[in-house]
Amino acid sequence: MGDGDTIEHRKKGKMQIVNNQVLQYKSVEEGFQQSLSLLRATLESTADGILVVDRNRKIVSFNQKFLDMWQVPEYLVKDFPDNTQLLAYVSKQLKDPDAFYKKVMDMYQQPEIICFDLLERKDGRVYERYSIPQRIGEEIVGRVWSFRDVTEQKKVERALRESEERYRELVEYSPDSIVIHCEGRIVFANSAALKLLGAGAMDDIYGKPVLDFIHEDYKKLVLQRIGEVEQGKVVPILEEKLIRLDGKVLDCEILITPFQHQGKPAVLVIVRDITEQKQMEQELLKADRLEALRLLAGGIAHDFNNILTIILGNISLAKISVRSNEKIYRKLEEIKKATLQAKELTQQLLTLAKGGAPVKKTVSLGDFLRETVVFALRGSNVLAEFTLPDDLWLVEIDENQMSQVIYNLVINAVQAMPSGGVIQVKTENISHGREETAAVGISLCQRNYVKISIEDQGIGIGREYLHKIFDPYFTTKQKGSGLGLATSYSIIKKHEGHISVESEVGRGTTFHIYLPASLGKNANPEMEEEELLLGKGTVLVMEDDPAIVNIAAEMLQLLGYEARFAGNGREALAMFQEAKEAGTPFACVIMDLTIRGGMGGRDVIEKIRQIDPTIKAIVASGYSNDPVLADHKRYGFHGVVAKPYEVKTLGKVLQKVLNEEPF
Ligand SMILES: Nc1ncnc2c1ncn2[C@@H]1O[C@H](COP(=O)(O)OP(=O)(O)OP(=O)(O)O)[C@@H](O)[C@H]1O
Ligand SMILES: [Mg+2]
Repeated sequence: MGDGDTIEHRKKGKMQIVNNQVLQYKSVEEGFQQSLSLLRATLESTADGILVVDRNRKIVSFNQKFLDMWQVPEYLVKDFPDNTQLLAYVSKQLKDPDAFYKKVMDMYQQPEIICFDLLERKDGRVYERYSIPQRIGEEIVGRVWSFRDVTEQKKVERALRESEERYRELVEYSPDSIVIHCEGRIVFANSAALKLLGAGAMDDIYGKPVLDFIHEDYKKLVLQRIGEVEQGKVVPILEEKLIRLDGKVLDCEILITPFQHQGKPAVLVIVRDITEQKQMEQELLKADRLEALRLLAGGIAHDFNNILTIILGNISLAKISVRSNEKIYRKLEEIKKATLQAKELTQQLLTLAKGGAPVKKTVSLGDFLRETVVFALRGSNVLAEFTLPDDLWLVEIDENQMSQVIYNLVINAVQAMPSGGVIQVKTENISHGREETAAVGISLCQRNYVKISIEDQGIGIGREYLHKIFDPYFTTKQKGSGLGLATSYSIIKKHEGHISVESEVGRGTTFHIYLPASLGKNANPEMEEEELLLGKGTVLVMEDDPAIVNIAAEMLQLLGYEARFAGNGREALAMFQEAKEAGTPFACVIMDLTIRGGMGGRDVIEKIRQIDPTIKAIVASGYSNDPVLADHKRYGFHGVVAKPYEVKTLGKVLQKVLNEEPF
């Protein structure tokens, strides 16, 4: 090979290299162009607005979307050496331009920072901003800003959040209790439910078996309903009993529907507490029944007393006409005794009618207690033992009402001893200030009391019930009305007394009654031995029952009075007026409190007193519960005769009234 060859060869070689380089450049250039176009295309095809700025804040690149999103005129990105004007232009569109500006500046200071945040625009739109450094190799050469319009997405998110919040509040503050249970265990309860179940916080019940809160009687049914709901069936609202954490039983209305809890099938329960409503319904029912009973009892007692007045009156008259040693006298005595028993029965009826201010009499409790207790024990397998000291102080009581109290206590004692037993009835004088009075919660006032104790050997009263037994309608008996002790309590209170209880389950119960001791004399002496108290004068009797008119006429005649009768108020007024005008005024009027279909004694006496304010008046009634009887003076009467009355009683009352000073 020669030199020429070599040179040629070298030239060729060089050419080859240059050609190769050109080819290489060409392909690099092509590659570059391709990447650039790819970049351009990518930039333009993305939904985000993109801006690229170098370290000198010179705008390197941007896409159309960026211009559109910020409504940037092109000269702002092309004609200025850096992005100062652009930044000012964009800031103005934001709600908080200062914060935006500051943040951008911070990021230019710290080129390596990546940031992601939200920008709120004045026009209400929201942009997400994402910014990362641009690197070539390790070196940071600028920053890429990308913006995405997320207004619609945020709106949806907010709506969802608000609706969730609303539902959460709705559930949380719902007056109905809402519980969710999943796989048989409680996983959620709103505050109403926590309260209803007696839980202080969710932790108290979280994870507990839902059946723990269902009353035994309903467990089977509830399980069945849950099963049906889980199979997608609709079940109707159910009234059932729930049990609180403290064991109290509640009446509730329950609605259950299928639900999802953390992706698992669950049951949503809506509970409405209807315990009070139920109680109220029952109380109304009881009250209705009681009211009907009261009306009936009051009515019967009234009519009965009228009839008894006739019988008793006739007996007392008949007794006067026969000599006491005659056989017939003893028969009359027997009839009288039976009649008095009937009178007691009417008192029991009036007892049912309940209420009314006490019509007090001063009595010694001994006989009264003996009679009432024995009467109450009739037909039972319970005996009574009495400890009744002779020196017992007197008390002022309404015998009707007090016998009702004793009757209630004795009946309760009998019911507490189903297989019989003995009750102890004791009385005792309690001087004021004695320790014992304090023990039963009586405030130590300067008073003496007579204490009555009635002790049984019955089943006793559980501690948890002791404070409830005087509540109206509290009963543990199937057929009890729960009014016995409530009525007794109110009667004792009306007598300014106290009633308390001691009891031990399985051993027995003792009720103590404290009645204020009276200073008065016994107003209940045996009338039998007394003479008839005779008098003079004309008496006007207002009475609508002809049979009573007859008997009263005879009684008054026997007592030495002249009697005139009026069947109603109008007649009575006319007769009274007439007699006064004629100069032969009545000495006294006896008014029946109730006149069928007309003015009763209470109204008539008012009118009569307008004619003659000094007139002496006596009220007669078979309704011993009427307030007029308890406080007759306030109503313009000087005396009271309770039907049925006897001739001796009538004579006594008339004499007392006529001898009294007028009001
Ligand atoms: N001597 C007693 N022994 C045991 N429990 C009693 C006794 N007295 C009262 N109780 C309890 O107190 C409750 C209320 O008594 P209360 O007399 O007020 O109503 P009642 O007896 O249930 O019904 P009612 O008297 O109206 O027929 C009774 O249900 C019973 O649980
Ligand atoms: Mg009772």
